[in-house]
Amino acid sequence: MSQLKSSGKILIKSGVPTPVLLVFPNPQNATNVLAVDPTCTHKGCTVDWNFSQSSFVCPCHNSRFDQDGEVLGAPATEPLNTYDVKIDNDLILVAV
Ligand code: FES
Repeated sequence: MSQLKSSGKILIKSGVPTPVLLVFPNPQNATNVLAVDPTCTHKGCTVDWNFSQSSFVCPCHNSRFDQDGEVLGAPATEPLNTYDVKIDNDLILVAV
């Protein structure tokens, strides 16, 4: 959790069954950790969290998704997969 607090986001690609992008968009709310599969539902590029836009943005064709993974901007038409998160002291548990 402390690593996520300092960086704001962490992309985990190895050692997990599916990639996970953890985002901590609101430092005032420690329960507000987002966990998504960052695989863009358009053509599979890896989306990133854009803090100024408070949304996930795909670098390939600029699809945008809200913090719940819902589509904000085409060409993607399907939402990102999201995961449940549980915070246990400094650990972040993600149900993938
Ligand atoms: S692969 Fe993400 S918008 Fe096309």
